[in-house]
Amino acid sequence: MHAATQTKPAVLFVCLGNICRSPMAEGAMRDAAHKAGLDIIVASAGTANYHIGNAPDPRAIATARAHGVDIGDQIGRQLSENDFYTFTHIIALDKANIAGIKARAPRQGKAKVELLLDVLDHRKGVAVPDPYYGDDADFEKCWKTIAEAVDALVVRFSRLQQNAA
Ligand code: 4NP
Repeated sequence: MHAATQTKPAVLFVCLGNICRSPMAEGAMRDAAHKAGLDIIVASAGTANYHIGNAPDPRAIATARAHGVDIGDQIGRQLSENDFYTFTHIIALDKANIAGIKARAPRQGKAKVELLLDVLDHRKGVAVPDPYYGDDADFEKCWKTIAEAVDALVVRFSRLQQNAA
C-alpha cells in the first residue's frame, strides 16, 4: 500500500536547493511533532539539483541549533517522481517551488501539494522568503515563520489522527 492511502501522514517539505528552508522545516516539524506525540514521517527535498548530497547551509544548521534542533545530519536531495506516491503531503515553501513540484508530478501521483503558509489564516498565499543570499537575521526570521507554520501543521495532523482513531 502506498503511504498516501495510509492513515499515518508523511510530509515532504520542498524548497529550491534543499539546504536552507526545507531542511529547517523538516527539523522544526520533526521536533514539534515529537513534542506533541504526533506519529508522522517527515522529510525534505529540493526542486533543483544544485545541492544533492550536501549538508544544510551552515547558517541553517546554526539557526536550528539555536532553537534546540539538530539538522546537521540531513543530506540534500532532489524531489523525485516516487515522492508523489510515498508522501501524503508535499509542502512547498514558496510559489515557485509549487510550480517546480507540479512540473515533476506524475499523472497518478497521490500526494496533496500545498503551500506551507496556507496553514496560517493570516499568511495565506505568502511565501517563506529564500534566506540564501541574506544574513543571519534572515535565517532567524525564516526559522520563526517556519516554526509558527509547523506548529499549526502539527495541530492539524493531530486532529486528523484523533478523528481517524
Ligand atoms: P533553499 O535556498 O531553496 O531554501 O534551500 C537556496 C539554496 C541554494 C540556492 C538557492 C536557494 N542556490 O541557488 O544554490
